[in-house]
Parts: sequence; C-alpha cells; structure tokens
Amino acid sequence: MSSNDQAKRAAAEAAYEFLIEDDYIGIGTGSTVNHFIDVMAERKPSIRACVSSSEATSAKLKKAGFEIEELNYTGNLPVYFDGADEINTHFEMIKGGGGALTREKIIASVSRRFVCMVDESKRVDILGNFPLPVEVIEMGRSAVARQLVKLGGSPELRPNVRSDNGNPILDVYNLDLSNAIAMEDKINAIPGVVTVGLFARRPADVLIVGSDHGVQTLTR
Ligand code: A5P
Repeated sequence: MSSNDQAKRAAAEAAYEFLIEDDYIGIGTGSTVNHFIDVMAERKPSIRACVSSSEATSAKLKKAGFEIEELNYTGNLPVYFDGADEINTHFEMIKGGGGALTREKIIASVSRRFVCMVDESKRVDILGNFPLPVEVIEMGRSAVARQLVKLGGSPELRPNVRSDNGNPILDVYNLDLSNAIAMEDKINAIPGVVTVGLFARRPADVLIVGSDHGVQTLTR
C-alpha cells in the first residue's frame, strides 16, 4: 500500500468510530470511501442499509454483503461518510473528481452529520487548485461553459465520461473560489447546471485527516 493509501486507510478507520449502528448510513464515492467500505466489511457493523452515492459504491457495498436502500425510502440520514478532492479550513469542499457529485450532494443535504475522510494532501487554505467539476445537461453544455468563462473560469469537457445520471461533466480551471458560497450560488443559477461540485453551503461537519504522522479528527 502506498503511503497515500495508508493515510486514506487510517482516516477511514478513524471515521468508523462515527458510524451509528441499527440505522441507515450514507456512503460516498472514491478511493478513500473504498477503504471505508473495506473497514466496514472487516468489522461487520449491524446497519439497516446503506444509501449509496454511485453505481461503483453500490457494487462494492453489495459485494461486501451490505444492503442498499434508495434515499426515497429512508428519510433523512444520521451520518454520511465521504472523501473530498479539496477541503479548506471552513470544511468547504470541492468534490466530484470521481463524477458522483450530484448524488453525493443530495445525500449530504439530508444527512445530519457529514464525516469527511481525507489524506493531508487534500487540505488547502483556498479552494480551486483542483478543477471544479460541474455536471450539466447535454444540450446546455456550451451555454453553461460560456457562462463559466464569464465568471472567470476555463471549462474543459471531461472526455468520454458521463455521470451515473447520464450527464456530461465540465472541469473548470482558474475560478476564484475565495468566496466559495458566492461562487456556488452563481454557478447554481446558470440554466443547464445540474450540480456544481462546490460544497460550501453544505460543508463537512467532521474532518478526519490521515497522514504519515497519524490521524487528526477535527470538528466544525
Ligand atoms: C467522487 O465524485 C468525489 O467527490 C470523491 O469524494 C472525491 O473525488 C475524493 O476521491 P478520493 O477519495 O478517491 O480521493
């Protein structure tokens, strides 16, 4: 395991302490979440079912023997576990590098506690070095891209990728995200945008950072 993977695994092990048994849990997407599912598979918690943010996560959860439930049948969730592409000191995040931003944002919005697990390379002072993913409706792709340019961004269509919802994703470089809430609102207001991968209106509640030196658990 690379040291980066070890850091993710350590964060996932620490995050497990926040799991609430005998209830539904929300599960995100990505390599850090995959470590979290591995930890769940080893420790076998008693849970009602998982609400999954992607087909990839659902497949891994099912293989590990966990049940999946649709969010439409669960109501709000006590806790959601996910990673991030970048996270700042306010626990605002860029997410969607793995393309699952829309379902991730929906689950985060109905979860009482968002537990974010990262390796320390994801921590930043100002968001935006990582290109901001924006899921769009296909017919509005160019129109949205032109609006993103007006906001100062340089959008690039993610090649040969569709989200689990069947939509293209634009990766936007060079945006000024020093006021992440304002930019999230502006991008959300563009017709044709399905989801912007800025999680500023709904930041994480708990941040677990794995590194070579150990694990740090921070709360907002
Ligand atoms: C998935 O769409 C993303 O939001 C992931 O949560 C994010 O990309 C983190 O992924 P890793 O855990 O693989 O770094």
